[in-house]
Amino acid sequence: MSTQSLRPVAVTGTGSHLPEKVLTNDDLQRMVDTSDEWITTRTGIKERRLASENEATSDLAAGAARAALENAGLEAGDLDLIIVATVTPDMAFPSTACFVQKALGASKATCFDVSAACSGFLYGMEIARGYIASGLVENALVIGADKLSGIIDWTDRNTCVLFGDGAGAAVLQPAREKAGEILSTCTGSNGSLDEILNVPGGGSRLPLTTENIGLKVNTMKMAGREVYRQAVTTMVSAAREAIARAGLTADDIACFIPHQANLRIIETIADKLDVPMDRFFVNLTQYGNTSAAAVAIALDEAQRSGRIKRGDHFLMVVFGGGLTWASSVVRW
Ligand code: ACO
Repeated sequence: MSTQSLRPVAVTGTGSHLPEKVLTNDDLQRMVDTSDEWITTRTGIKERRLASENEATSDLAAGAARAALENAGLEAGDLDLIIVATVTPDMAFPSTACFVQKALGASKATCFDVSAACSGFLYGMEIARGYIASGLVENALVIGADKLSGIIDWTDRNTCVLFGDGAGAAVLQPAREKAGEILSTCTGSNGSLDEILNVPGGGSRLPLTTENIGLKVNTMKMAGREVYRQAVTTMVSAAREAIARAGLTADDIACFIPHQANLRIIETIADKLDVPMDRFFVNLTQYGNTSAAAVAIALDEAQRSGRIKRGDHFLMVVFGGGLTWASSVVRW
């Protein structure tokens, strides 16, 4: 299909949902050999939210979905497509998107999950944009949701201080009068760097056994410094590419909404793009890194708080295990 026949697509509503329980740096100090001072200076994170044992990823996702539908003025029954980006699905199958469909009563939607770690929400948005742009569907719901607390080794100070649980969502529809139009998106992956960030066990490559579960193969492994380096390199180039594809410059972007992993990563990106930090939206202080949910929650908070205003250009940029990365420019 030629690009001329594609319809413009817009974000028409956003929502987010955070579990109630707060885990502070002081709480973590009592669990592992760490300190509020170390976590704050190395990451910027002060606290994170944790889902309860009986709260699944789809429960968080459904909360964000309801808020996004209300924001868009849409009924669940109007949805043609539900995509959930997650690395912590409720079950291997059915998909978490199918559980969300059940919770919402979105009976006519086609539902599936996307696995792209922290980049998943923008990957999901790009898939939904393709469906809508080509005329296959009208109303899509994209959710980034993760319950990372379930795959964290709570005795490993290298990782357990970084992450939290949550969900964010966006409704996508054909653009009307250009409001919320997605102007450009770029996505990329580098599967050869799989080993710097992964959960090695629990899949077909290394099924869980009573022996290896004691070695915590079902928890996240991360080479922090290398991940940091890759995060900066890939997010800077993805942001530049998305801005250029939109025919804009960094000066045209009113608000940058980056993946919320580490304040130092965000500051380095701002520096490399030569953009002052006051144009970057940061909420990792309260939530830590919520994986696929992070940029979606930040988008929702940025638009509800008035940080992005009608007519503003904003940019989202993400990075995650895979490796994967993506960036998108939207005119709000
Ligand atoms: N408390 C106290 N000390 C700690 C802690 C902690 N929580 N964690 C590590 N340390 C120690 C280390 O053991 C090390 O000690 P040593 O020098 O005696 O060996 C020292 O602190 C420095 O460790 P570094 O790893 O070099 O610290 P660095 O400044 O690189 O910060 C961090 C570590 C915060 C993990 C950083 O590398 C980072 O943010 N990396 C990117 C992480 C990320 O973004 N991950 C998510 C990707 S997205 C996804 O898909 C899930």
